[in-house]
Amino acid sequence: MEGFKAYLNNLKTKLMSLCDYSKDEEYLLVMYSLNLTREQVFLKEIISKKERQKVNGKLIKRLRGEPLNKIFGKQNFCGFEFKVNKWVLAPRVETELLVEKVINEIDCRQEKVRILDICTGTGCIGLSIKKLRPNKIKTLVLSDTFPNALVVAKENKRLLGIEENVEIIKSNMFERLKSQDKFDIITCNPPYITESEYEDLPVGVKNYDPKISLFGGKDGLDYYKILAKKSKDFLAKNGKIFMEIGSKQREAVEKLFKEQGYITTCYKDYSGCDRIVVGSISEVKT
Ligand SMILES: C[S@@+](CC[C@H](N)C(=O)[O-])C[C@H]1O[C@@H](n2cnc3c(N)ncnc32)[C@H](O)[C@@H]1O
Repeated sequence: MEGFKAYLNNLKTKLMSLCDYSKDEEYLLVMYSLNLTREQVFLKEIISKKERQKVNGKLIKRLRGEPLNKIFGKQNFCGFEFKVNKWVLAPRVETELLVEKVINEIDCRQEKVRILDICTGTGCIGLSIKKLRPNKIKTLVLSDTFPNALVVAKENKRLLGIEENVEIIKSNMFERLKSQDKFDIITCNPPYITESEYEDLPVGVKNYDPKISLFGGKDGLDYYKILAKKSKDFLAKNGKIFMEIGSKQREAVEKLFKEQGYITTCYKDYSGCDRIVVGSISEVKT
């Protein structure tokens, strides 16, 4: 038996040697390893040898650079728990802003909306919107080109108890979507890391998130070029596209969309970085 507070402090010191240490990670490591609630961890006074062995097994992985979400196979996003694995990008906190902007848009509309979440990965964007506004979604389509990611999206749909009005489609961007299908809202967090950025990514990202979910071509803009050209074929009248961007991509992405006749707005994330671009176009056909 060992005093738990001393053990926790020791754990914290070890974890702080990681360049991607995040505040209070030691609590999460204990919570998930021992299957405890946050309250149980706060109230814990001693830790047994068996418990220490369980935590230490996970600690070794974490100290090798594996992020907690990949070790435990789950990540909280918008208040919901999403399953993650090596085939999908673990949902990031910045992306919650995209969901927030879409929710504001939905709340301004009288009618139910049709949503397409392209490059869906875990499905975190589309499924969170559906959970947060269940009665305002007419249809939700989740699409990704990577079959292994679609398995995860499907599993998350099931785990979140979403049964109706959601279609999951394997498609290389818009290729397999029917152009007669129109959406009021398209959401997309595409791969946007540039060639040079990819080389310098932290171990926790480069070794544990799949390249297909990160790499956006030499200048990081490959997917935005497709989105700018094609999304208007799939947008209903007054439709809007909500995209996450890299912090240095605002100018280039807005230019691509303006060239195609879109009006664009950009929002900064809570760290003050350009993060969400919204494109709207009024002349599209219904
Ligand atoms: C940055 S991740 C975003 C995942 C999730 N939407 C999120 O925000 O956490 C990009 C996703 O795009 C998918 N993807 C990559 N190339 C694609 C393509 N050509 N067509 C459709 N999806 C693609 C990847 O498999 C990955 O799931």
